[in-house]
Amino acid sequence: MALILAIETSCDETSAAVVRDGTEILSNIISSQIEVHKKFGGVVPEVASRKHLELVNGVIAEALESAGFDFASLDAVAVTHGPGLVGALLVGVSAAKALSYSLGIPLIAVNHLEGHIYANFLADPGLEFPLVCLVVSGGHTDLLVMQGHGSYRLVGRTRDDAAGEAFDKVARTMGLGYPGGPLIDSLSADGNGSAIALPRAYLEEGSLDFSFSGLKSAVINFLHHARQKGEEVSLPDLAASFQKAVVDVLVFKTMEASLQHGARTILLAGGVAANRQLRSAVSEAAAGYQLRVVYPPPELCTDNAAMIACAAYYHYLRGDFADLTLNAVPGLDLHGL
Ligand code: KG4
Ligand code: ZN
Repeated sequence: MALILAIETSCDETSAAVVRDGTEILSNIISSQIEVHKKFGGVVPEVASRKHLELVNGVIAEALESAGFDFASLDAVAVTHGPGLVGALLVGVSAAKALSYSLGIPLIAVNHLEGHIYANFLADPGLEFPLVCLVVSGGHTDLLVMQGHGSYRLVGRTRDDAAGEAFDKVARTMGLGYPGGPLIDSLSADGNGSAIALPRAYLEEGSLDFSFSGLKSAVINFLHHARQKGEEVSLPDLAASFQKAVVDVLVFKTMEASLQHGARTILLAGGVAANRQLRSAVSEAAAGYQLRVVYPPPELCTDNAAMIACAAYYHYLRGDFADLTLNAVPGLDLHGL
């Protein structure tokens, strides 16, 4: 039996969770700073660090209390040490180191992207390798092949904007607010995805890389031209057309990756994996090839500490522990782990 407390502070959510044996979520407290950052139209790093500092102890106490355990019952403490905002990461890393030292329990360092992937193992620890993982978040758009626990090979990545970043920037230009992904997702439900012709970057034949900056610029130009000419733009149609352009490329490359690398199971991970159209389009395409698609429930797609605790459990089983020299690594890579 392993009872792990995990702490996640890489961006704008202060989160702590208690998870038993990598599957049983006893608590998963998420204190979002979205309201604080909304007025700036995005995350302000310095504000995020200060907020984490204010919130972290209370969030940890709440996670333990709602799990019904005390500090003495914990077997290990885990923390996200990168990638993310350095000041934000440091708050979680310092809290976890203090707990590890004072309680005399192992410290486990988890890569944030690994956490997103492991949100899928919370519900199903028996997922069969090799796996293709599409990690789509605010900072990353990566295709990875996993041959076993803790083994990641990067086979494709965005050459410019991340998918979530494109959602957020397009939403801002459309005047929808922050974060843009969920707003575009719901607005799209009332729009026609074929109404406005937008570009899709498939890049070179066989490439598993992505590029979203051309699409983002095309949407921005479309809006500017319409405004100059005084033409009315249907925001639902624009949202749906943009979302379809993103989803079409994500689906195509993900299928291509699983065929190229012989993976029969596909995992979706990261905040954009909450997107309804992405979930259904990947499932539909995969069914044609008899591939299995797995994605976390929406609330476990976006940042949370339960996914960090799940990833940490597999480090725990391998005896892969960090020491008190652990530092925040803002540009931490996942491949090569
Ligand atoms: O994984 P995440 O919570 O934080 C990072 O690690 O970046 O992802 C946040 C990103 C944001 O860009 C947000 O707009 C996007 O995920 N997102 C969505 C949806 N929900 C969140 N994008 C599209 N559709 C959604 N339903
Ligand atoms: Zn994330």
